[in-house]
Amino acid sequence: MSISNIVNIKTNTSDVFIGDDAFSVLNEYLRAYHNAKIFILVDENTLEHCVTELITQNEILHNAEILEIDSGEENKTLDVCYQLWKTLAEYKADRNALLINLGGGVITDMGGFIASTYKRGISFINVPTTLLSQIDASVGGKTGVDFEGLKNIIGVFNEPKGVFIYPNFLKTLDKRQMLSGYAEALKHALIKDVEYWEELKDGMLSDAENWTKLITRSVNIKNEIVLSDPLEKGERKLLNFGHTIGHAVESFSLENDKVPLCHGEAIAIGMICESYISNMINDLTAVELENVSSTINSFYSAYTLDESNYHSYIELMKNDKKNESNKINFTLLSSIGSASFNKEVGVDLILESLNYYNSIIAK
Ligand SMILES: NC(=O)c1ccc[n+]([C@@H]2O[C@H](COP(=O)([O-])OP(=O)(O)OC[C@H]3O[C@@H](n4cnc5c(N)ncnc54)[C@H](O)[C@@H]3O)[C@@H](O)[C@H]2O)c1
Ligand SMILES: [Zn+2]
Repeated sequence: MSISNIVNIKTNTSDVFIGDDAFSVLNEYLRAYHNAKIFILVDENTLEHCVTELITQNEILHNAEILEIDSGEENKTLDVCYQLWKTLAEYKADRNALLINLGGGVITDMGGFIASTYKRGISFINVPTTLLSQIDASVGGKTGVDFEGLKNIIGVFNEPKGVFIYPNFLKTLDKRQMLSGYAEALKHALIKDVEYWEELKDGMLSDAENWTKLITRSVNIKNEIVLSDPLEKGERKLLNFGHTIGHAVESFSLENDKVPLCHGEAIAIGMICESYISNMINDLTAVELENVSSTINSFYSAYTLDESNYHSYIELMKNDKKNESNKINFTLLSSIGSASFNKEVGVDLILESLNYYNSIIAK
């Protein structure tokens, strides 16, 4: 492609394009669909802030049908999928139809799942609009929904035909959501890239000039891991750092808090706890633990983990999809910038790590 301001990263079966000119490439892509029925999946926020820009820059989308769902993790469910499958059927969408997922990780996860299952699979494209989905969720081919209070346990691996990342969409995203995405960038650095960690520690969000660089670095780290192990038999488990405890805290918050934690906020808590465990039974040093926990703590608001909920957290962890034969499996840091997976951890140490998190936020 001859457009110079674009970063192009090759995934297993398609491409990611990053940059303010990403839509010029999308235009080329869409030519293949000029006879197809095109649907754009949005929530009320991407309907307000993103869809006009997308359609204006891509003439072929002028006739696309817009499918709107309510925003929020609580809507990443089979009930909402049911409605969307029904709508696609009412529009008589055939196997040649294309679904464009325009939104955060909720839209790209659920839209990818709907497209992968409708008529045994129609094509989909991701146009991620949150930092979290631009640097993580839209890439790697994991699609799915939550079920019975458990995160992401229904879903399939399936890659989009392309991912088009337009950093300008982040201009309307609030600070809390930006920070939520930043947690995944911190994770990428912690598991793979100590230099990236040093840069992230200084805070890269306030200056929009940094966004493309940040997105590119994170997508490259994630993509290299996914390329080496697309179906998460081994190496890909590295990306679960912070997520064993993080998902439990997130699911619990979703069911019980008036204003639930965002995904990245829960992962930030999970990363502090799992760094503690990494210090106790893996090679992460005490100095590195202090570095990780004080840095993460400086970015995020305190969220007390109430002792009366510890039992529920453990039950949620036992149910998490990552665990084989009911043992609790973790990805742990060996140092800042490297990690190892399939580490079994006992319940007592997990509880200790929750106490450690509470002590960090009390400082
Ligand atoms: N598939 C994967 O590999 C993967 C990886 C990480 C996370 N995830 C999933 O991603 C989800 C979290 O994604 P998220 O943080 O993007 O949440 P989200 O999709 O809920 O988006 C967060 C909020 O930002 C709003 N929004 C989106 N774009 C906007 C814009 N440009 N301007 C203003 N507001 C905007 C949304 O409407 C929503 O209210 C979780 O469900 C998580 O499990 C998936
Ligand atoms: Zn995540």
